[in-house]
Amino acid sequence: MVIREKKPVIFLFIFPLQGHLNPNFQLANILFNRGFSITVIHTEFNAPNSSNFPHFTFVSIPDGLSESEASNPDVIELLHDLNTKCVAPFGDCLKKLLSQEPTAACVIVDALWYFTDGLTEKFGIPRMVLRTVNLSAFVAFSKFHVLREKGYLSLQESQANLTVPELPHLRMKDLPWFQTDDPRSGDKLKKGVLKSLKSSSGIIFNAIQDIEPEQLKQTHKEFPVPLFCVGPFHRHVSPSSSSLLTQDMTCLSWLDNQEPNSVIYVSLGSIASIDESEFLEIAWGLRNSNQPFLWVVRPGLIRGTEWIEILPKGFIESFEGMGKIVKWAPQIEVLAHRATGGFLTHCGWNSTIESICEGVPLICKPSFGDQRVNARYISDVWRIGLHLENKIERLEIESAVRTLMKSSQGEEIRKRIMPMKETAEKCLEPGGSSFRNLEKLISHVLSF
Ligand code: UDX
Repeated sequence: MVIREKKPVIFLFIFPLQGHLNPNFQLANILFNRGFSITVIHTEFNAPNSSNFPHFTFVSIPDGLSESEASNPDVIELLHDLNTKCVAPFGDCLKKLLSQEPTAACVIVDALWYFTDGLTEKFGIPRMVLRTVNLSAFVAFSKFHVLREKGYLSLQESQANLTVPELPHLRMKDLPWFQTDDPRSGDKLKKGVLKSLKSSSGIIFNAIQDIEPEQLKQTHKEFPVPLFCVGPFHRHVSPSSSSLLTQDMTCLSWLDNQEPNSVIYVSLGSIASIDESEFLEIAWGLRNSNQPFLWVVRPGLIRGTEWIEILPKGFIESFEGMGKIVKWAPQIEVLAHRATGGFLTHCGWNSTIESICEGVPLICKPSFGDQRVNARYISDVWRIGLHLENKIERLEIESAVRTLMKSSQGEEIRKRIMPMKETAEKCLEPGGSSFRNLEKLISHVLSF
């Protein structure tokens, strides 16, 4: 009889926001495929659908969030509440799991769980951190102390377009601000995350080092722990859905009826919100562009309304099949569809890397945090998109869509994204940077 050795176990503490759940689960799948057992530790708030991942073990911890805390529009406050309320439940959970699991290799936590360093140290288990932003945004976050000292973070309108001497590609208005009423709350988050990263046994990024080599060097200087860029995560293994909202699959049959590269896909991600007038400006801008569009209007996107009821009567019918509005889309499949020719996005890093992987050029409308950094890199450094820098107005939307989809400038942008797409493909091939970094990551985890 063959006695099989028990697989090493990784405890993955996922963060319950959509833009984190996706890369958290993608990494879990990658490590599972490489022979690890995965135990997912999750909160009751935004609990994932475990039936989509029958190969993992799921352990739920009580987060103690009240209804009003769970629906707090100030996401930074929500992050702090989670980090305060989960200390005891996570500690109890970890203690129990470690007592039951003789082959525990390490804990991997999403970087937003900044409270975990003390506990993993107490229990003597190595802790690695998954940071879901790219390296350019990471470098900007990591300079936060200097930026705060120099007063850049309490920016005056007149300074918005000045360049940041410490971050030469960025302007003052691109610095990673947070959507919070209290700036101290944002500072507390950055401090907590940086401290927890510095004391970790390694940081894993959904990033591609060939695209950001300088930023990797800078990160090495400031963070003397092993760093592993193994992105694009979603391209390692076929993704399973970690979507909190139901994806409307009719998007794909609708796209089947459109011309190649003709559709502008519009989505502002899982957290950003806009007001009613901004929504109407986007609506008119898209309509007036005369370009087919697929628009994700997530419930909660428009402040103060349920969904799209504020659109004028007959507005949708007047598109005559040219436009489709859904609550949530199968985004990766939409971007991969031959009909999708452009992406008007808030520039969350998942959306950005998913678009690069499909060679779909972008129109940037960033909202907060890393999205501003990503937008500047997209428009000015990588030059794979246009940047909507001003107030949302229909003429600006119309003109950007036409430029990207119909003009020679748009054609140049489309050409420029193709080498990036190739880089994103090649880095995963044997010998490629992400392939090699994944091998290193696995050896690192096995060495604990
Ligand atoms: C935010 C930040 O901006 C991001 O950079 C950070 O790392 C996580 O938090 P979010 O607003 O969620 O992210 O945007 P993004 O990072 O782009 O992630 C959204 C995810 O939802 C993507 O993986 C995308 O494929 C998915 N999505 C989006 C859908 O599946 N359907 C949709 O209709 C829209």
